[in-house]
Amino acid sequence: PFTAVWAPTGARVPVPADRTLLNALRARGVDVEASCESGTCGTCRLRLVAGEADHRDLVLTADERAGYVMPCVSRALGDEVTVAP
Ligand code: FES
Repeated sequence: PFTAVWAPTGARVPVPADRTLLNALRARGVDVEASCESGTCGTCRLRLVAGEADHRDLVLTADERAGYVMPCVSRALGDEVTVAP
């Protein structure tokens, strides 16, 4: 489990182990467009504003991983990540 901070509003969203970052954000009313939900299409891409991501996608390059995260599959390495559209 970790906490996602939605940068535009400052909302703090708990992400339990059995829920994706994408679904946790959506459950809090954050509208994130998604398609494959398996880390391959690139649709759900968010900016990684703060924190370290546990990248589990197959689309971002090593360089892109410094600044973006795919919330349908990826998680936080630490206690918290801050993301934005
Ligand atoms: Fe396709 Fe996340 S919805 S990569």
